Amino acid sequence: MYDSLRMQSVQSPIIPVVGELIRSHPGTISLGQGVAYYGPPPEAVEGIQRFLADPENHKYKLVQGIPELLEAIEQKLERENGIALAGRRIVVTAGANMGFVNALLAITDPGDEIVLQLPYYFNHEMAVAIADCRAVCVPTDDEYQLQPEAIAAAITDRTRAVVTISPNNPTGAVYRESDLRQVNEICRSNGIYHISDEAYEYFTYDGAEHFSPGSIAGAGGHTISLFSLSKAYGFASWRIGWMVLPEHLYMPVRKIQDTILICPPVISQWAAVGAMKAGRQYCRDKLKTTRDIRRIFLDALDGIADLVTVPRAEGAFYLLLRVHTNVESMELARQLIGQYKVAVIPGMTFGIEDKCYLRVAYGALQKDTATEGMSRLVKGLKHMLTL
Ligand SMILES: Cc1ncc(COP(=O)(O)O)c(C=O)c1O
Repeated sequence: MYDSLRMQSVQSPIIPVVGELIRSHPGTISLGQGVAYYGPPPEAVEGIQRFLADPENHKYKLVQGIPELLEAIEQKLERENGIALAGRRIVVTAGANMGFVNALLAITDPGDEIVLQLPYYFNHEMAVAIADCRAVCVPTDDEYQLQPEAIAAAITDRTRAVVTISPNNPTGAVYRESDLRQVNEICRSNGIYHISDEAYEYFTYDGAEHFSPGSIAGAGGHTISLFSLSKAYGFASWRIGWMVLPEHLYMPVRKIQDTILICPPVISQWAAVGAMKAGRQYCRDKLKTTRDIRRIFLDALDGIADLVTVPRAEGAFYLLLRVHTNVESMELARQLIGQYKVAVIPGMTFGIEDKCYLRVAYGALQKDTATEGMSRLVKGLKHMLTL
């Protein structure tokens, strides 16, 4: 039987591989999980009651989302992101990952190029390959910040979009407003799209502020903004996000979504209407714990500054450690699980193999597991790197 060569060339997601290693070493503490430690607010459950109250809700609904959720999103975008809809549309998706695939399929043909920042979010790189396009990776700087000049230099006549993620997975970097403005302008002047993934918009620390490129005057015609309830509202399994897109992409995106999804799960959409009623304050309260956990991580890593460099990371819930060793990142991750019962994600997953990088995630943890997990990581790195 024939298997698609294109699919064979797509990298396998690392999370299940690490998950399998964790299962085979019971008692391992995972610093790998990219999810929030909390679930949805009670208002989401009330939303489900509204869903259940109407038997019509068991039928297919609009491909772009139910009006009640679209309305809540529109208000949120205006209030929090400075994005007014004029000339734009919202499409509710089954998460930001689906929004990304929708966007790619709507704006590319096979062989086109998409500019990703290095290190990249692995599902973005995979999606580009699945769409039969080529990921052109532009390195970020030593602090994992954007390099607009290098991005401009990477654009060819096959480039269709530049992708930015801020706050960033896997680095935790929050991009400077001035750099995002510059990238958005580079896209406008080259007649290409700026795809802005803002799944972690609420997760910023130490005074860092999130900026939405979609709020820039004149950005509406070439900016595709992706949002998600997965992290902010503890909604990862509910599969709700949305895209904000130029009017002219509304029809192509609906064709794609109609074919793949027909409509976003309506029960989850009603839960989302409820969650958004609780609003940003819900996440703000939860972040107090996450902020403390982040501090535990940073303090522990401070103690091994001779072994790892931790560039500034004021967002999301990730730190991407630059480890001072020639050992390959997957091998190091394997040993950390096998010998020290602590799991991290190897940098190779994010397309960086020049040095040894490890991603640690602090969003899913409580204080005791965070302290114990970091103590194992520090002990493991000390032993392995100073032998
Ligand atoms: C940058 C980024 N975008 C999108 C997603 C996936 O979001 P969703 O659950 O909304 O598909 C993740 C999840 O880790 C992510 O890190």
